Amino acid sequence: MTIGHESNPLRDSRDRRLARIAGPSALVFFGVTGDLARKKLLPAVYDLMNRGLLPPSFGLVGYGRREWSDDDFRAYVRESVQAHARTSFREDVWNQFQKGMRFVQGAFDDDAAYERLKGTLAELDERGAQGNHAFYLSIPRRLSSRCCRSLPSMGWPAVRKMRAQRMLALGGGVWWWRSRSGMTLSRPVS
Ligand SMILES: NC(=O)c1ccc[n+]([C@@H]2O[C@H](COP(=O)([O-])OP(=O)(O)OC[C@H]3O[C@@H](n4cnc5c(N)ncnc54)[C@H](OP(=O)(O)O)[C@@H]3O)[C@@H](O)[C@H]2O)c1
Repeated sequence: MTIGHESNPLRDSRDRRLARIAGPSALVFFGVTGDLARKKLLPAVYDLMNRGLLPPSFGLVGYGRREWSDDDFRAYVRESVQAHARTSFREDVWNQFQKGMRFVQGAFDDDAAYERLKGTLAELDERGAQGNHAFYLSIPRRLSSRCCRSLPSMGWPAVRKMRAQRMLALGGGVWWWRSRSGMTLSRPVS
């Protein structure tokens, strides 16, 4: 017996989350060690995962100057989530979430680090992000132009200033973080 979209007994057509679940994607936070990321952004992403609104293969990349391994980064995110998330901490959700976490060490003027970021995203693409990347610049405003200069050279052309303060799923499955203070870049989705 083939179970189709309509006949899948595990799906409930009244579940309005289905249309809002993000497609394959990865999100990069610049300035991930800062106050905003620790208290607001990382917990908010976990909350989305906990509510079933992110795909299991979701990738989360932190970019910063500290000499952290991926596991150091995971420990930091876990602490941030346990302290500040709005939803309860669930070990099973965390286990899935942390598998897609990577840390890239570098400053904003470090071309070699941007190359490492490119390699990390390529790896996450293989894992399921499928070339859909969003970037959040959670950094002092005076530093954002350096990031914005570097990313297009890596193949992400569009630059937009965002005003709203929500995370939205756009057609095609790319996640954009929108913020009054932040900027996002995204590779167009075919
Ligand atoms: N905090 C809030 O609640 C809040 C609220 C609304 C808006 N904002 C805005 O959101 C942005 C981030 O806020 P924040 O408080 O998280 O900022 P922050 O702590 O001052 O900076 C964020 C991160 O940027 C990195 N950074 C700072 N100077 C750098 C440099 N010269 N070179 C490379 N990296 C540098 C640091 O990471 P490493 O040293 O680890 O590399 C730092 O952890 C800012 O534009 C702020 O105005 C913040």
